[in-house]
Amino acid sequence: MKYTKLVNCKNPYSWKDEKRQVLVSYQDIDGNEIWIEEKTLQSFLLLQSFLKEKGMDIGITSAYRSVEEQEILFQKRVEEVGLEETKKYVASPFCSEHHTGLALDIAVKIEDGYLEEANEQTIPLLEEIHSYLSSFGFVLRYPKEKESITGFSYEPWHIRYVGNIPAMMMEKYHLCLEEYVEDFGGVLYIFKEAGMTSFDVVQEVSRLFGISKVGHTGTLDPMAKGVLLVAVGKATKIVELLTSKEKEYVAKARLGLLTDTGDITGKIVKEEKVESNNLSYAIASFPQTYLQEVPIYSAVKVNGKKLYEYAREGKEVTLPKKEVHIYEIELLEQNGNDFTFRTLVSKGCFIRSLIQDIAASIGTIATMTDLLRTKQGSITAEECVSLQDIQRGEFEMHRISDVFKEYPLVQVDEAIEKKIRNGNSLSNFCQVSDFVFFQNAQGKLLGIYQEKNGELVVYKNFCTNS
Ligand code: DAL
Ligand code: ZN
Repeated sequence: MKYTKLVNCKNPYSWKDEKRQVLVSYQDIDGNEIWIEEKTLQSFLLLQSFLKEKGMDIGITSAYRSVEEQEILFQKRVEEVGLEETKKYVASPFCSEHHTGLALDIAVKIEDGYLEEANEQTIPLLEEIHSYLSSFGFVLRYPKEKESITGFSYEPWHIRYVGNIPAMMMEKYHLCLEEYVEDFGGVLYIFKEAGMTSFDVVQEVSRLFGISKVGHTGTLDPMAKGVLLVAVGKATKIVELLTSKEKEYVAKARLGLLTDTGDITGKIVKEEKVESNNLSYAIASFPQTYLQEVPIYSAVKVNGKKLYEYAREGKEVTLPKKEVHIYEIELLEQNGNDFTFRTLVSKGCFIRSLIQDIAASIGTIATMTDLLRTKQGSITAEECVSLQDIQRGEFEMHRISDVFKEYPLVQVDEAIEKKIRNGNSLSNFCQVSDFVFFQNAQGKLLGIYQEKNGELVVYKNFCTNS
């Protein structure tokens, strides 16, 4: 179940969603049986006991509603108050998130009974409850200041389960669900542990944030650890720009050993005695730019097929060569055949291959035994958080413009904002020679432009949903 599921007039409920729902039975304030999505009920019960300790008693008046029930409710209300008034508070059938079982209408007990009405007595209590919602994964779904976006009037009684991290993000950035699902984005600086694939990290982030669009910006093999920048939501538009950043590694390797994968997790294919060597000279004098053969155990595609698939199937393939830059390289330690070095390389450089190329320059073979990515662009391992930190809610979501401190962030007036929204090219009024980030007076990132032939052309537009 995706707890951030958006159901509104533009995104109606579909029968497909019903199959993913697990509804459990509960009782409303009058003792009637009602149905609630499983995790939503668990979280509600925690909220309820937390409030009880504070001397407040809450119950549920309505949870899951079938399309037929919503139809009856809608029609009844139309008869009572007319269509216009009804549409302010009651969604038409298929457009109500009560169909998901994730939405709850709550009532507060005052003296002997639950008061269903939102009035002078109940509103202050409900508003106090709103301030605790996000700690239990709930949000106030139809806040006053978001009426024009949600399409519904302020409903202090209607709460919605979205999950802990989405609730926390929506509260921190003052977003309603529509804004979170359609417009939210940022970059997480993650320290990947050894043993997970980069895709495992992406999947976990996607699950925690309830957002499908998540991408990492440069694969780290399962055995490798270190800086993995993960773009969430709208920020996936800059994955390519982030991937192109140079990366720094501290790698360990062993001379005289060769495996099929190029690293210590592979099968040994050759071992040899290493003659005395001058590794430190070979590393110090290693070429700065050269053509590197892509390793067979990599996801690089040849004729539409990944290289490691050729390897698994035992099929012949000519390995492509790519130009890579070694900006910095230094030997840190050597102990017999084992050595450690630090290097700063361009996008697409394989450290496993670099190790073999260094070894070849002194007439031997080598295998990578450990790999730590210490930096990507200007982001260092010290700035990263672990996946466990994120699960605990201890992380920062970095704004797209913060990740690219090297490019100017320019605030534009309404006239230029309009041109950016339309995707128009602009004169190079800010005199840049590469990328420039534009935001409006409210701090909303509008787009990234790039200088081309004296003018600024769109690189990424953040005003559209594509
Ligand atoms: N009261 C909300 C909008 C619903 O009917 O779903
Ligand atoms: Zn409701």
